[in-house]
Amino acid sequence: MTRHCSFPGMGSFPLWGKAGMGVSSLLESGAAGPRPNPPPEGDGATQPLVRAEGLAMSFDVSPPLLNRILERKPRQLLHAVDEATFTINKGETLALVGESGCGKSTVARVLVGLYQPSRGRFFFKDQDVHAALAKGGRELRRGIQMIFQDPYASLNPRWKVADIIAEPLHEHGLVTSKTEAQERVAALLQSVGLAAVDMAKFPHQFSGGQRQRISIARALATQPEFLVCDEPTSALDVSVQAQVLNIMKNLQRERQLTYLFISHNLAVVRHVSDHVGVMYLGRIVELAPKRTLFATPRHPYTRMLLDAIPKMHDTGRARTPVQGEVPNPLNPPAGCTFHPRCPLANARCKAERPALQAIGGVQVACHAVEEGRA
Ligand SMILES: Nc1ncnc2c1ncn2[C@@H]1O[C@H](COP(=O)(O)OP(=O)(O)OP(=O)(O)O)[C@@H](O)[C@H]1O
Ligand code: SF4
Ligand SMILES: [Mg+2]
Repeated sequence: MTRHCSFPGMGSFPLWGKAGMGVSSLLESGAAGPRPNPPPEGDGATQPLVRAEGLAMSFDVSPPLLNRILERKPRQLLHAVDEATFTINKGETLALVGESGCGKSTVARVLVGLYQPSRGRFFFKDQDVHAALAKGGRELRRGIQMIFQDPYASLNPRWKVADIIAEPLHEHGLVTSKTEAQERVAALLQSVGLAAVDMAKFPHQFSGGQRQRISIARALATQPEFLVCDEPTSALDVSVQAQVLNIMKNLQRERQLTYLFISHNLAVVRHVSDHVGVMYLGRIVELAPKRTLFATPRHPYTRMLLDAIPKMHDTGRARTPVQGEVPNPLNPPAGCTFHPRCPLANARCKAERPALQAIGGVQVACHAVEEGRA
């Protein structure tokens, strides 16, 4: 199966940032360049575009067969993602957050078809994505694109920008002549704040931010409806991050794009998302509207993550500093996998894995929340 992904590269914008400002300060101060346009009126953008149902992805990380036989070791599976269930409405953004190794990128790769899930299904416009991709899924490949973290690695250094962006246009038969391709490339470059003349340059002639913009332009070439963005701004300077995020928000509003947005940075997540999914060791432990999650986090892990950012979460509640380490995913704790780090853990937590369930308007997987202890 061939997957076509589009990658980031970003911006030739002037640096508006002040020394020492974080991305949240820049976003809030308006220093990040043009503010997003208001959403089109009366679009009724609330229908689910994508739906994941119990997605799971396990990797076989066993030693070679001979070693296993000699050392009498069983096969070893690493459960990178388990029971991931969520929907994203058209035109909205679901952000996935969580510590390194919790499975965010694996979810992203499953959604764009780079991995066949071990279990579960993923629907795009009510179409089973992996079943459709197995049969070719050309339309789906146009409709779902991905933006990666590293704008340096994601653009072919030997190709001119014109060829990089035009490749998916030719691949999907969206242009019939070189002139038409050039016109489309010019328009795409302008949509991400670059100039048409930039198409004659090579990737090394751009800054990191500009390269990420090129990647976004390439991702938009097939006129996708769903963009999976895996840490698209993490590799960028703080002030450039803010510019790119605002461009992405503008593009979303203009084109009714739907995003799955992965980020370590909760300030970024608060800026871009409508809903937030918090992942811990392969599972979604809390899924809530953004404002609810930041105002009243329910899961002890979500609270721990937010407590690491004092300014963002000044509710007066006693803080729990981030403590402990993420357990080895090859040997996860029994019961709730968060229990070794959780201040509210009890005997039930050590024995019984909590299921994600609707409680008080959010979805949360925690016995303490269910029992009214948190
Ligand atoms: N191809 C693979 N083969 C084996 N294990 C993998 C593979 N890809 C990911 N993993 C493992 O799956 C788990 C989840 O990895 P993933 O890259 O999805 O995490 P992440 O949340 O994106 O982390 P980060 O924030 O560091 O990018 C990790 O334990 C990782 O080592
Ligand atoms: S289930 Fe128990 S251990 Fe897990 S987060 Fe809730 S209180 Fe903590
Ligand atoms: Mg990742």
